[in-house]
Amino acid sequence: MTEGFPIGEEELKKGEWLFRQECRFVAGVQNLGAMPDTSLPEVAFAGRSNVGKSSLINALTGRKSLARTSNTPGRTQQINFFELGGVMCLVDLPGYGYAKASKSKVSSWNDLIDVYLKRRGNLKRIYVLIDARHGIMAADQVALEKLDAANVPYVVVFTKADKVKPSELAKTIARVEEELKADHVGAFPKVYTTSSMRKKGLAELRAILALAG
Ligand code: GTP
Ligand code: MG
Repeated sequence: MTEGFPIGEEELKKGEWLFRQECRFVAGVQNLGAMPDTSLPEVAFAGRSNVGKSSLINALTGRKSLARTSNTPGRTQQINFFELGGVMCLVDLPGYGYAKASKSKVSSWNDLIDVYLKRRGNLKRIYVLIDARHGIMAADQVALEKLDAANVPYVVVFTKADKVKPSELAKTIARVEEELKADHVGAFPKVYTTSSMRKKGLAELRAILALAG
């Protein structure tokens, strides 16, 4: 079994406490000149368009519409910054890999993310959300390689676990953990699983965010 973050009762309590604090939208930016100046430790949520990034931020913070969610892929097209309890910043990144995105949109995503990764000195960790039904897809692979090269540590978090049978889920977790260990230097070896819809895996993720950023 792959070892995870050391989460016990104490850490779960700290996570619960942190996410009971006020969370407020700070800024939405499309170019990095306009990034909010914050010295708080920051974590970002990345993943394919429609994978459930905004939904997860809402579920973690217990707010229905802090981050805007949508059935239309590509909804979040800017980098949105949220301050949590005056102690950390949560960042909702625009989704990648949207099949219908124009070339110019794809390259503007790349430019924005490249600059974000390079310039954001307070960025501690990225949570890369991956659809539990599919595991690592081609667009995820490209993003993970980018993060490996940028030297930013990241944790893979499965979303939409409610859409997969437990037996299938266990197989996909094992497969993805193997892939992370074999090919991705920046990845935390354990995969975490969530369902924003069923509110599963949230307490553990809150604890990890409180513990490790
Ligand atoms: P972009 O902003 O376009 O990159 O998308 P996003 O990653 O922020 O996805 P968003 O949170 O907007 O969710 C996309 C769709 O997936 C919405 O219809 C959500 O209701 C749905 N969704 C999100 N999380 C879950 C989940 O845990 N289970 C299920 N079944 N659906 C989910
Ligand atoms: Mg979104």
